[in-house]
Amino acid sequence: MVLYQLADVETPVLSQFSLKGKIAIVTGGSRGIGLQVVTGLAEAGADVAFIYKSSTDAAETAASVARKTGRRVQAYQSDVTDRARIANTIRLITEEFGNGRVDIVVANAGVCANVPSLEYTEESWHYMNSVNYDGVMWTALATGQLFKKQGRGTFIITASVSATLVNTPQTQAGYNASKAGVLQLARSLAVEWADFARVNCVSPGYVLTEMVTKQPKELMDIWLGQIPGRRACHPAELKGTYVFLASDACCYMTGSNLIIDGGFTIP
Ligand SMILES: NC(=O)c1ccc[n+]([C@@H]2O[C@H](COP(=O)([O-])OP(=O)(O)OC[C@H]3O[C@@H](n4cnc5c(N)ncnc54)[C@H](OP(=O)(O)O)[C@@H]3O)[C@@H](O)[C@H]2O)c1
Repeated sequence: MVLYQLADVETPVLSQFSLKGKIAIVTGGSRGIGLQVVTGLAEAGADVAFIYKSSTDAAETAASVARKTGRRVQAYQSDVTDRARIANTIRLITEEFGNGRVDIVVANAGVCANVPSLEYTEESWHYMNSVNYDGVMWTALATGQLFKKQGRGTFIITASVSATLVNTPQTQAGYNASKAGVLQLARSLAVEWADFARVNCVSPGYVLTEMVTKQPKELMDIWLGQIPGRRACHPAELKGTYVFLASDACCYMTGSNLIIDGGFTIP
């Protein structure tokens, strides 16, 4: 088998972006970036199941995106840190929501905490890595087995600019290292899975979600001074990138990392 190619590579470009008839799963889809990914994929035509951990309004959120987009959207509670549980949830979604098939999986769930590196405990170190690194691997394992059986699929990971730069002035070595880890994990999977799946990463800069807006305002003022674009990203501005990576418009792209950061990583 070779990397999938469109039967007609001359297909008009906008129709290559369509996700009509596709089934997608997004982890961490209840809010923030994940919710916009769910919305974007549904707007492009996919039916989308999303996974959350503790949101209390996930069913209403799903119903609201379904109303807005006219697609099937459903919320499933799970935990990406639990290998067996996330595998069971992906299996359940495939059978119950996807009628035996899933085309797109986005490993987006993530957490961040500011901890001075000399103060990490087993617990605070494990907290971030169990979601951001192990959680991506457990999601990838269940997904890869499914895609291999199907012969085709697209896996997208939300990494971060923190995979390649060190954010300042806050201290977040654990977060940065977990994101650097998933970049190399994605590249490794892209090579191993080339005959049945594409694997790519999205690396946003500062995005206006709870992860960022809960931080002190003084930090945001410093960050804005570090970004050539002089503003943070609205999470809806990331929708197009995920739709592109999920679609047939980038059939030859695998193992890539798309940085969306207002120029933050350039200077
Ligand atoms: N915001 C930024 O500036 C930024 C920049 C670069 C990269 N990122 C990355 O983008 C991704 C999304 O971040 P965000 O800013 O949208 O964060 P957010 O608003 O805090 O949302 C986090 C999402 O992850 C889910 N989640 C957390 N732990 C989970 C677990 N153990 N199992 C399943 N789901 C879990 C949450 O579910 P509940 O709602 O149920 O808690 C929620 O849906 C993360 O990987 C983050 O590292 C964010």
